[in-house]
Amino acid sequence: MTEVSPFFTLGIETSCDETSVAILRGETDVVVELVYSQAGLHARYGGVVPEIASRNHVRKLPYLVREAVGTSGAALDDLSLIAATNGPGLIGPLLVGLSYGKGMAFGLDVPFIGVNHLEGHIFAHRLHAPEVDPPFMALIVSGGHTTLVDVPAYAEYRLVGRTVDDAAGEALDKVGKMIGIGYPAGAEIDRLAGEGDPNAIPFPRPMAGSPGFDFSFAGLKTAVLYHLRKHPRERREDVAASVLASVVEILTKKSIEATRRYHRPRLIVVGGVAASSHLRDEFVRAGAQRGIEALFPPLHLCTDNAAMIAAVGAFRHLRLGESHPLSLAPNPSLGIGEGDGAPA
Ligand code: KG4
Ligand code: ZN
Repeated sequence: MTEVSPFFTLGIETSCDETSVAILRGETDVVVELVYSQAGLHARYGGVVPEIASRNHVRKLPYLVREAVGTSGAALDDLSLIAATNGPGLIGPLLVGLSYGKGMAFGLDVPFIGVNHLEGHIFAHRLHAPEVDPPFMALIVSGGHTTLVDVPAYAEYRLVGRTVDDAAGEALDKVGKMIGIGYPAGAEIDRLAGEGDPNAIPFPRPMAGSPGFDFSFAGLKTAVLYHLRKHPRERREDVAASVLASVVEILTKKSIEATRRYHRPRLIVVGGVAASSHLRDEFVRAGAQRGIEALFPPLHLCTDNAAMIAAVGAFRHLRLGESHPLSLAPNPSLGIGEGDGAPA
């Protein structure tokens, strides 16, 4: 009897400031996941500097690939598919990972597939809970995105709502800067919020009560700025708790209402901001009131990582027979649910 050799996908993620490489066996078994965060390099600029990000992806990626292959127990020749993020994200950083992935696929003579980063965030849920299949509603909430997507099945997406201005994480990062927290600020705001009073400052809840499922966070950020000008000695803990309470209330109200309206039994919350403990507690509490189960991947799968990228690649290749030509270009403004979520 001939033994079927395992299907190994090498995933590459470089859309922003995390350089990440992962190796997946089959569709959901993560063999290695390496993430190098450049956050420290960008901290003093208060945000990601695209040129610095690109250069550091170039520097780190070959080492991460070598280390991932080395620790996986697989040989380069065992890789069956190379998957790399091709959008959305910063054009320079995307080009680095995409070109490296294509080069590997060409050199190893294996198929290549470009992956939509937003679909990647949804697949973080699949890695964590492969038995909990769609249908579900998904909220992708990160530094770059705040997007509600209805998921009748994997690889089938319907855009339900998205931010009309800043992403939720972006707003938290900007507020963090105002109260002297380094970039990225989300995790520290979440920690400080635990020591503050969420009712201390009545920040607005922009668009929380409006019809439709779009979000807005720019007005909240401006409200914090004006408040701090008037009250420069406000406790940081109270600012953090109050601003997070506003962000979480807007996100929960809209997402749970959308889940109900689309008759989905579950809401999955993914992306960096889904790492917030306050957000998790509130989604679980508010969801339970409406008979909706809120689910979250573990923290390391919420923030950017290549395991979720490999998971999309393996699924689309093995189930749908997809791969892409090596001419596939990066698409910095790639969306989800407007077409079929596949790289355009
Ligand atoms: O998904 P991600 O790593 O990158 C993007 O695709 O944007 O998300 C990064 C965002 C940042 O805005 C960061 O401040 C926020 O996620 N974040 C958090 C937490 N950890 C990261 N926000 C709230 N609580 C956290 N624990
Ligand atoms: Zn992301």
